Amino acid sequence: MVNIAVLGYGTVGSGVVEVLDLNRDSINKRCGREINLKYILDLKEFPGTPIEHKVVHDYNIIVNDPEVQIIVEVMGGVEPAYSFVKEAILKGKSVCTSNKELVAKHGAELLALSKERNVNFLFEASVGGGIPIIRPLNQSLTADEIEEITGILNGTTNYILTKMSEEGVDFESALKEAQAKGYAERNPEADIEGYDACRKIAILSSLAFGMQVDFEDIYTEGISKITDVDFKYAKELGARVKLLGTSRKEGEGVYAMVAPMMINANHPLYCVNDVFNGISVRGNVIGDVMFYGSGAGKLPTASAVVADVVDATKHLGTNIMTIWSSKKLDLLDVKKASHRFFVRIGKDNEEIKEKVSQIFGRVQVVKAKDVTNEYAFITDSMAEEEYSEKAANLTDIVSMIRVRL
Ligand code: HSE
Repeated sequence: MVNIAVLGYGTVGSGVVEVLDLNRDSINKRCGREINLKYILDLKEFPGTPIEHKVVHDYNIIVNDPEVQIIVEVMGGVEPAYSFVKEAILKGKSVCTSNKELVAKHGAELLALSKERNVNFLFEASVGGGIPIIRPLNQSLTADEIEEITGILNGTTNYILTKMSEEGVDFESALKEAQAKGYAERNPEADIEGYDACRKIAILSSLAFGMQVDFEDIYTEGISKITDVDFKYAKELGARVKLLGTSRKEGEGVYAMVAPMMINANHPLYCVNDVFNGISVRGNVIGDVMFYGSGAGKLPTASAVVADVVDATKHLGTNIMTIWSSKKLDLLDVKKASHRFFVRIGKDNEEIKEKVSQIFGRVQVVKAKDVTNEYAFITDSMAEEEYSEKAANLTDIVSMIRVRL
Protein backbone atom coordinates (compact mmCIF):
# COMPACT_ATOMS: atom_id res chain seq x y z
CA MET A 1 0.00 0.00 0.00
CA VAL A 2 1.15 3.56 -0.73
CA ASN A 3 -0.17 6.37 1.42
CA ILE A 4 -0.73 9.72 -0.20
CA ALA A 5 -1.94 13.13 0.94
CA VAL A 6 -3.69 15.81 -1.07
CA LEU A 7 -2.95 19.45 -0.26
CA GLY A 8 -5.99 21.55 -1.17
CA TYR A 9 -9.56 20.37 -1.69
CA GLY A 10 -10.59 22.87 -4.33
CA THR A 11 -11.52 22.19 -7.96
CA VAL A 12 -8.47 20.08 -8.79
CA GLY A 13 -8.09 18.49 -5.33
CA SER A 14 -11.68 17.27 -5.26
CA GLY A 15 -11.18 16.04 -8.84
CA VAL A 16 -8.14 14.01 -7.75
CA VAL A 17 -10.15 12.37 -4.97
CA GLU A 18 -12.99 11.68 -7.42
CA VAL A 19 -10.67 10.08 -10.00
CA LEU A 20 -8.93 7.95 -7.36
CA ASP A 21 -12.34 6.73 -6.26
CA LEU A 22 -13.87 6.31 -9.73
CA ASN A 23 -10.98 4.32 -11.20
CA ARG A 24 -9.67 2.77 -8.00
CA ASP A 25 -9.33 -0.79 -9.31
CA SER A 26 -7.58 0.00 -12.57
CA ILE A 27 -5.32 2.56 -10.91
CA ASN A 28 -4.30 0.11 -8.19
CA LYS A 29 -3.71 -2.56 -10.82
CA ARG A 30 -1.47 -0.24 -12.82
CA CYS A 31 0.43 0.75 -9.69
CA GLY A 32 0.83 -2.87 -8.64
CA ARG A 33 -0.36 -1.87 -5.17
CA GLU A 34 -3.13 -0.01 -3.44
CA ILE A 35 -3.15 3.78 -3.25
CA ASN A 36 -4.52 4.94 0.08
CA LEU A 37 -5.58 8.55 0.49
CA LYS A 38 -4.57 9.15 4.09
CA TYR A 39 -4.97 12.92 4.47
CA ILE A 40 -6.48 15.95 2.81
CA LEU A 41 -5.11 19.32 3.89
CA ASP A 42 -7.61 22.16 3.71
CA LEU A 43 -8.63 25.16 5.75
CA LYS A 44 -12.28 24.13 5.63
CA GLU A 45 -14.16 21.22 7.21
CA PHE A 46 -16.29 18.95 5.02
CA PRO A 47 -18.81 17.53 7.50
CA GLY A 48 -21.08 14.77 6.29
CA THR A 49 -18.92 13.99 3.25
CA PRO A 50 -16.89 10.81 2.65
CA ILE A 51 -13.65 12.74 3.16
CA GLU A 52 -14.61 14.31 6.47
CA HIS A 53 -12.28 12.12 8.57
CA LYS A 54 -9.30 12.56 6.26
CA VAL A 55 -9.23 16.35 6.53
CA VAL A 56 -6.47 17.94 8.58
CA HIS A 57 -5.55 21.60 8.97
CA ASP A 58 -1.93 21.23 10.03
CA TYR A 59 0.63 20.36 7.36
CA ASN A 60 3.05 19.08 10.00
CA ILE A 61 0.81 16.06 10.56
CA ILE A 62 1.29 15.09 6.92
CA VAL A 63 4.92 15.94 6.35
CA ASN A 64 6.03 14.29 9.59
CA ASP A 65 4.09 11.10 8.95
CA PRO A 66 6.65 8.54 7.66
CA GLU A 67 3.83 6.49 6.16
CA VAL A 68 3.04 9.23 3.61
CA GLN A 69 5.21 8.65 0.56
CA ILE A 70 3.55 10.85 -2.05
CA ILE A 71 2.14 14.33 -1.65
CA VAL A 72 -0.23 15.87 -4.20
CA GLU A 73 0.02 19.65 -4.14
CA VAL A 74 -3.01 21.26 -5.79
CA MET A 75 -3.36 24.43 -3.75
CA GLY A 76 -1.94 26.77 -6.39
CA GLY A 77 0.14 29.90 -5.81
CA VAL A 78 3.81 30.05 -4.84
CA GLU A 79 3.45 30.18 -1.05
CA PRO A 80 2.89 28.18 1.06
CA ALA A 81 3.05 25.59 -1.75
CA TYR A 82 6.81 26.08 -2.25
CA SER A 83 7.67 25.68 1.43
CA PHE A 84 5.41 22.63 1.75
CA VAL A 85 6.79 20.93 -1.37
CA LYS A 86 10.40 21.61 -0.50
CA GLU A 87 9.96 20.22 3.00
CA ALA A 88 8.22 17.14 1.60
CA ILE A 89 11.09 16.45 -0.82
CA LEU A 90 13.67 17.02 1.91
CA LYS A 91 11.81 14.45 4.01
CA GLY A 92 12.01 11.89 1.19
CA LYS A 93 8.50 12.18 -0.21
CA SER A 94 7.63 12.45 -3.91
CA VAL A 95 5.44 15.34 -4.99
CA CYS A 96 2.89 15.59 -7.82
CA THR A 97 1.61 19.07 -8.56
CA SER A 98 -0.63 20.98 -10.95
CA ASN A 99 0.84 24.29 -9.82
CA LYS A 100 2.34 26.16 -12.79
CA GLU A 101 3.31 29.18 -10.72
CA LEU A 102 5.36 26.94 -8.44
CA VAL A 103 6.99 25.00 -11.30
CA ALA A 104 7.78 28.10 -13.37
CA LYS A 105 9.41 29.83 -10.40
CA HIS A 106 11.09 26.99 -8.49
CA GLY A 107 11.08 24.04 -10.93
CA ALA A 108 14.86 23.90 -11.40
CA GLU A 109 15.54 23.85 -7.65
CA LEU A 110 12.80 21.34 -6.81
CA LEU A 111 13.86 19.01 -9.64
CA ALA A 112 17.49 19.12 -8.52
CA LEU A 113 16.51 18.53 -4.92
CA SER A 114 14.29 15.59 -5.81
CA LYS A 115 17.09 14.05 -7.87
CA GLU A 116 19.46 14.46 -4.94
CA ARG A 117 16.94 12.83 -2.56
CA ASN A 118 16.00 10.12 -5.04
CA VAL A 119 12.33 11.03 -5.08
CA ASN A 120 10.17 12.50 -7.85
CA PHE A 121 8.80 15.97 -8.47
CA LEU A 122 6.16 15.51 -11.19
CA PHE A 123 4.04 18.25 -12.76
CA GLU A 124 2.19 16.92 -15.81
CA ALA A 125 -0.96 18.89 -14.91
CA SER A 126 0.87 22.22 -14.74
CA VAL A 127 0.72 22.62 -18.54
CA GLY A 128 -2.13 21.72 -20.86
CA GLY A 129 -4.53 20.38 -18.18
CA GLY A 130 -5.13 16.73 -19.07
CA ILE A 131 -2.84 16.68 -22.13
CA PRO A 132 0.34 14.64 -21.78
CA ILE A 133 3.11 17.09 -22.70
CA ILE A 134 5.58 17.10 -19.80
CA ARG A 135 6.02 13.32 -19.96
CA PRO A 136 6.57 13.32 -23.75
CA LEU A 137 9.17 16.08 -23.39
CA ASN A 138 10.76 14.17 -20.54
CA GLN A 139 10.69 10.74 -22.18
CA SER A 140 9.52 10.39 -25.77
CA LEU A 141 11.17 13.38 -27.43
CA THR A 142 14.55 13.10 -25.76
CA ALA A 143 16.29 11.99 -28.97
CA ASP A 144 15.50 15.36 -30.51
CA GLU A 145 16.79 18.87 -30.23
CA ILE A 146 13.60 20.87 -29.77
CA GLU A 147 13.44 23.73 -32.27
CA GLU A 148 10.04 25.22 -31.53
CA ILE A 149 7.08 24.87 -29.19
CA THR A 150 3.91 26.75 -30.03
CA GLY A 151 0.69 26.24 -28.15
CA ILE A 152 -2.73 27.33 -27.13
CA LEU A 153 -1.90 26.95 -23.47
CA ASN A 154 -4.80 28.58 -21.67
CA GLY A 155 -8.25 27.01 -21.71
CA THR A 156 -10.09 30.03 -20.32
CA THR A 157 -8.96 32.47 -23.01
CA ASN A 158 -9.47 29.90 -25.75
CA TYR A 159 -13.00 29.34 -24.44
CA ILE A 160 -13.65 33.10 -24.38
CA LEU A 161 -12.21 33.67 -27.87
CA THR A 162 -14.24 30.77 -29.28
CA LYS A 163 -17.51 31.91 -27.67
CA MET A 164 -16.96 35.50 -28.82
CA SER A 165 -16.02 34.68 -32.38
CA GLU A 166 -18.24 31.68 -33.13
CA GLU A 167 -21.33 32.45 -31.03
CA GLY A 168 -21.22 36.24 -30.67
CA VAL A 169 -21.16 35.99 -26.84
CA ASP A 170 -19.74 39.09 -25.17
CA PHE A 171 -16.45 38.98 -23.26
CA GLU A 172 -17.87 39.27 -19.73
CA SER A 173 -20.49 36.53 -20.26
CA ALA A 174 -17.92 34.20 -21.82
CA LEU A 175 -15.58 34.78 -18.87
CA LYS A 176 -18.40 34.09 -16.40
CA GLU A 177 -19.14 30.80 -18.18
CA ALA A 178 -15.46 29.82 -18.01
CA GLN A 179 -15.42 30.63 -14.29
CA ALA A 180 -18.60 28.62 -13.68
CA LYS A 181 -17.06 25.64 -15.45
CA GLY A 182 -14.00 25.82 -13.20
CA TYR A 183 -11.53 26.77 -15.95
CA ALA A 184 -10.48 30.22 -14.80
CA GLU A 185 -7.84 31.14 -12.24
CA ARG A 186 -8.97 32.69 -8.95
CA ASN A 187 -7.80 35.99 -10.37
CA PRO A 188 -8.93 35.77 -14.01
CA GLU A 189 -6.44 38.48 -14.95
CA ALA A 190 -3.86 35.68 -14.91
CA ASP A 191 -5.73 34.03 -17.79
CA ILE A 192 -6.87 37.12 -19.69
CA GLU A 193 -3.61 39.03 -19.61
CA GLY A 194 -1.64 35.94 -20.67
CA TYR A 195 0.30 35.43 -17.41
CA ASP A 196 -0.88 31.82 -17.08
CA ALA A 197 0.13 30.97 -20.66
CA CYS A 198 3.43 32.75 -20.02
CA ARG A 199 4.26 30.51 -17.07
CA LYS A 200 3.33 27.45 -19.09
CA ILE A 201 5.54 28.34 -22.07
CA ALA A 202 8.33 29.12 -19.56
CA ILE A 203 7.99 25.59 -18.09
CA LEU A 204 7.93 23.92 -21.52
CA SER A 205 10.90 25.99 -22.71
CA SER A 206 12.95 25.26 -19.58
CA LEU A 207 12.31 21.55 -20.04
CA ALA A 208 12.95 21.63 -23.80
CA PHE A 209 16.09 23.75 -23.71
CA GLY A 210 17.47 22.46 -20.40
CA MET A 211 17.96 25.85 -18.75
CA GLN A 212 15.84 28.13 -16.60
CA VAL A 213 13.58 30.35 -18.70
CA ASP A 214 12.33 33.09 -16.39
CA PHE A 215 8.69 33.84 -17.11
CA GLU A 216 9.32 37.50 -16.25
CA ASP A 217 11.54 37.72 -19.36
CA ILE A 218 8.86 36.54 -21.77
CA TYR A 219 7.04 39.25 -23.73
CA THR A 220 3.36 38.75 -22.84
CA GLU A 221 0.17 40.23 -24.25
CA GLY A 222 -3.30 38.98 -23.35
CA ILE A 223 -6.68 39.07 -25.07
CA SER A 224 -8.28 42.02 -23.28
CA LYS A 225 -7.91 44.30 -26.31
CA ILE A 226 -9.48 41.88 -28.81
CA THR A 227 -12.96 42.96 -29.90
CA ASP A 228 -15.84 41.61 -31.97
CA VAL A 229 -14.67 43.80 -34.88
CA ASP A 230 -11.33 41.97 -34.94
CA PHE A 231 -13.26 38.72 -35.36
CA LYS A 232 -15.13 40.18 -38.34
CA TYR A 233 -11.85 40.87 -40.11
CA ALA A 234 -10.50 37.46 -39.11
CA LYS A 235 -13.56 35.82 -40.66
CA GLU A 236 -12.98 37.66 -43.95
CA LEU A 237 -9.44 36.33 -43.92
CA GLY A 238 -10.56 32.78 -43.15
CA ALA A 239 -8.63 33.17 -39.91
CA ARG A 240 -9.16 32.83 -36.17
CA VAL A 241 -7.61 34.79 -33.33
CA LYS A 242 -5.81 32.55 -30.82
CA LEU A 243 -3.68 33.30 -27.80
CA LEU A 244 -0.41 31.57 -28.63
CA GLY A 245 2.61 30.92 -26.48
CA THR A 246 5.71 30.34 -28.57
CA SER A 247 9.34 29.65 -27.99
CA ARG A 248 11.63 29.13 -30.93
CA LYS A 249 15.30 28.41 -31.37
CA GLU A 250 17.08 30.91 -33.59
CA GLY A 251 20.78 30.10 -34.02
CA GLU A 252 22.13 29.64 -30.51
CA GLY A 253 19.34 31.69 -28.92
CA VAL A 254 15.64 31.35 -28.11
CA TYR A 255 12.78 33.76 -28.68
CA ALA A 256 9.72 33.43 -26.46
CA MET A 257 6.44 35.31 -26.60
CA VAL A 258 2.77 35.12 -25.61
CA ALA A 259 0.37 37.13 -27.77
CA PRO A 260 -2.89 36.86 -29.69
CA MET A 261 -2.24 35.83 -33.29
CA MET A 262 -4.38 35.45 -36.37
CA ILE A 263 -3.95 31.97 -37.83
CA ASN A 264 -5.70 30.35 -40.77
CA ALA A 265 -6.96 26.83 -41.49
CA ASN A 266 -3.48 25.67 -42.56
CA HIS A 267 -2.18 26.22 -39.05
CA PRO A 268 -2.28 23.09 -36.85
CA LEU A 269 -3.86 25.05 -33.98
CA TYR A 270 -6.71 26.55 -36.04
CA CYS A 271 -9.23 23.86 -35.01
CA VAL A 272 -8.35 23.98 -31.32
CA ASN A 273 -11.49 25.56 -29.84
CA ASP A 274 -13.38 25.99 -26.56
CA VAL A 275 -11.44 24.86 -23.49
CA PHE A 276 -9.15 22.65 -25.55
CA ASN A 277 -5.43 23.29 -25.69
CA GLY A 278 -3.11 22.29 -28.49
CA ILE A 279 0.65 22.18 -28.36
CA SER A 280 2.77 21.76 -31.43
CA VAL A 281 6.39 20.72 -30.92
CA ARG A 282 9.06 20.66 -33.62
CA GLY A 283 12.11 18.47 -33.14
CA ASN A 284 15.14 18.38 -35.42
CA VAL A 285 14.70 14.63 -35.98
CA ILE A 286 11.01 13.87 -35.53
CA GLY A 287 9.68 16.98 -37.26
CA ASP A 288 6.27 18.23 -36.07
CA VAL A 289 4.20 16.56 -33.34
CA MET A 290 0.89 17.80 -31.96
CA PHE A 291 -0.69 17.32 -28.54
CA TYR A 292 -4.39 18.09 -28.13
CA GLY A 293 -6.97 17.78 -25.36
CA SER A 294 -8.82 19.46 -22.52
CA GLY A 295 -6.61 22.25 -21.25
CA ALA A 296 -8.44 23.02 -18.01
CA GLY A 297 -11.24 21.74 -15.79
CA LYS A 298 -11.57 19.53 -12.76
CA LEU A 299 -11.41 16.01 -14.16
CA PRO A 300 -8.97 16.46 -17.08
CA THR A 301 -6.50 18.18 -14.75
CA ALA A 302 -7.09 15.57 -12.06
CA SER A 303 -6.45 12.85 -14.65
CA ALA A 304 -2.95 14.24 -15.25
CA VAL A 305 -2.27 14.57 -11.53
CA VAL A 306 -3.37 11.00 -10.77
CA ALA A 307 -1.28 9.70 -13.68
CA ASP A 308 1.69 11.35 -11.96
CA VAL A 309 0.71 9.61 -8.70
CA VAL A 310 0.74 6.28 -10.56
CA ASP A 311 4.16 7.11 -12.04
CA ALA A 312 5.51 8.18 -8.65
CA THR A 313 4.20 4.96 -7.08
CA LYS A 314 5.83 2.82 -9.75
CA HIS A 315 9.10 4.67 -9.29
CA LEU A 316 9.45 4.98 -5.53
CA GLY A 317 13.18 5.16 -4.90
CA THR A 318 14.04 6.02 -8.54
CA ASN A 319 14.19 9.55 -9.88
CA ILE A 320 12.75 9.71 -13.39
CA MET A 321 12.60 13.39 -14.35
CA THR A 322 15.01 15.14 -16.65
CA ILE A 323 16.16 18.18 -14.77
CA TRP A 324 16.81 21.63 -16.18
CA SER A 325 19.73 23.71 -15.04
CA SER A 326 19.03 26.66 -12.76
CA LYS A 327 21.34 28.65 -15.06
CA LYS A 328 19.22 31.32 -16.69
CA LEU A 329 18.62 31.13 -20.41
CA ASP A 330 18.94 34.67 -21.74
CA LEU A 331 16.19 35.03 -24.29
CA LEU A 332 16.81 36.81 -27.56
CA ASP A 333 15.39 40.31 -27.81
CA VAL A 334 11.82 39.86 -28.97
CA LYS A 335 12.07 43.18 -30.85
CA LYS A 336 14.12 41.28 -33.44
CA ALA A 337 11.44 38.64 -34.02
CA SER A 338 9.62 39.00 -37.34
CA HIS A 339 5.88 38.82 -38.01
CA ARG A 340 3.28 40.18 -40.34
CA PHE A 341 0.97 42.64 -38.59
CA PHE A 342 -2.77 43.16 -39.02
CA VAL A 343 -3.49 46.81 -38.29
CA ARG A 344 -6.79 48.71 -37.99
CA ILE A 345 -6.87 52.47 -38.33
CA GLY A 346 -9.92 54.36 -37.10
CA LYS A 347 -10.44 56.40 -40.24
CA ASP A 348 -10.82 55.68 -43.91
CA ASN A 349 -9.76 58.29 -46.46
CA GLU A 350 -7.28 58.80 -49.28
CA GLU A 351 -4.89 60.65 -47.03
CA ILE A 352 -4.54 57.75 -44.58
CA LYS A 353 -4.16 55.23 -47.41
CA GLU A 354 -1.38 57.34 -48.89
CA LYS A 355 0.31 57.68 -45.51
CA VAL A 356 0.14 53.92 -44.84
CA SER A 357 1.63 53.18 -48.20
CA GLN A 358 4.45 55.70 -47.62
CA ILE A 359 5.23 54.17 -44.21
CA PHE A 360 4.69 50.45 -44.81
CA GLY A 361 5.06 50.20 -48.60
CA ARG A 362 2.94 47.43 -50.08
CA VAL A 363 0.18 46.19 -47.75
CA GLN A 364 -2.71 43.74 -48.06
CA VAL A 365 -5.92 45.73 -47.57
CA VAL A 366 -8.60 43.88 -45.56
CA LYS A 367 -12.31 44.71 -45.63
CA ALA A 368 -14.91 43.34 -43.22
CA LYS A 369 -18.66 43.14 -43.58
CA ASP A 370 -20.55 45.91 -41.77
CA VAL A 371 -17.37 47.68 -40.66
CA THR A 372 -17.08 51.26 -41.87
CA ASN A 373 -14.88 54.26 -41.19
CA GLU A 374 -11.83 52.08 -40.76
CA TYR A 375 -8.83 51.24 -42.89
CA ALA A 376 -7.35 47.81 -42.14
CA PHE A 377 -4.36 46.10 -43.66
CA ILE A 378 -1.69 43.43 -43.18
CA THR A 379 1.94 44.40 -43.50
CA ASP A 380 4.74 42.38 -45.02
CA SER A 381 6.90 40.47 -42.58
CA MET A 382 9.12 42.72 -40.49
CA ALA A 383 10.85 42.79 -37.12
CA GLU A 384 8.83 43.94 -34.10
CA GLU A 385 11.08 46.98 -33.70
CA GLU A 386 10.63 48.01 -37.33
CA TYR A 387 6.85 47.71 -36.94
CA SER A 388 6.90 49.80 -33.76
CA GLU A 389 8.98 52.54 -35.38
CA LYS A 390 6.68 52.68 -38.38
CA ALA A 391 3.46 52.47 -36.37
CA ALA A 392 4.63 55.38 -34.20
CA ASN A 393 4.11 57.61 -37.25
CA LEU A 394 0.43 56.71 -37.39
CA THR A 395 -2.09 58.09 -34.95
CA ASP A 396 -5.53 56.41 -34.75
CA ILE A 397 -4.34 52.79 -34.71
CA VAL A 398 -7.31 50.98 -33.16
CA SER A 399 -5.73 47.57 -32.89
CA MET A 400 -2.82 45.43 -34.02
CA ILE A 401 -2.71 41.63 -34.09
CA ARG A 402 0.24 39.58 -35.22
CA VAL A 403 -0.51 37.34 -38.16
CA ARG A 404 0.61 33.86 -39.15
CA LEU A 405 -1.31 33.31 -42.37
N1 HSE B 1 -6.86 28.77 -15.84
C1 HSE B 1 -6.13 27.76 -16.50
C2 HSE B 1 -6.61 27.68 -17.95
C3 HSE B 1 -6.33 26.45 -15.81
O1 HSE B 1 -7.68 28.25 -18.22
O2 HSE B 1 -5.95 27.12 -18.79
C4 HSE B 1 -5.47 25.32 -16.31
O3 HSE B 1 -4.11 25.57 -16.09
